[in-house]
Amino acid sequence: MKKFLVLFVMTLLCCSSASAESKSLIAYFSWSGNTEAVAKTIADVTGFELFEIKTLKPYTKDYDSVLNVAKTEQNQNARPELASHVQNMAQYDTIILGFPCWWGTMPMAVFTFLEEYDFSGKRIIPFVTHGGSSFGRSLNDMRKIIPNAKIESNGLSISGTASNQRVANWLNEVGITVK
Ligand SMILES: Cc1cc2nc3c(=O)[nH]c(=O)nc-3n(C[C@H](O)[C@H](O)[C@H](O)COP(=O)(O)O)c2cc1C
Repeated sequence: MKKFLVLFVMTLLCCSSASAESKSLIAYFSWSGNTEAVAKTIADVTGFELFEIKTLKPYTKDYDSVLNVAKTEQNQNARPELASHVQNMAQYDTIILGFPCWWGTMPMAVFTFLEEYDFSGKRIIPFVTHGGSSFGRSLNDMRKIIPNAKIESNGLSISGTASNQRVANWLNEVGITVK
């Protein structure tokens, strides 16, 4: 019995120190800046680190052309190579993941990002910016790629822009402390 008690207390101590050291990251992909603006708002109100998911080969700045490039990448189920990588993903237990809806789902660069790391047991809190499709198929696609992650179902969906207050309210809803 005494042994069990000691073990129980040790487990409690261990878990509480782990959560005290837990870290969160905001990772985002953005082509024209909408998603980046939301990501920066989240960083401002939480103090979390930001990581931009960027492709090694930059996308064209032309809207019509990028539509075609993105469609082709999706049709080919491409995994565009990324320009930078998260140092020590293991240190983060929560990742707030933002992206624009591209052709009904995540840009293929976000697929690359999700396949690059082990997200098992990590909490993924998604947000999307879009022109009407909201998350589209993205959450289903995400679940398929990282089945062992805990994907928050109350993601933030933004058409156009969102006020700091709306972002802060959503963060509160998903249990993220706002400064
Ligand atoms: C290649 C491409 C594909 C898009 N596909 C969709 C779509 O399927 N559904 C939608 O609602 N919006 C779509 N949009 C609009 C973007 O999701 C929206 O403008 C978003 O806020 C852009 O975010 P960003 O400024 O961070 O790149 C698309 C935009 C681009 C450039």
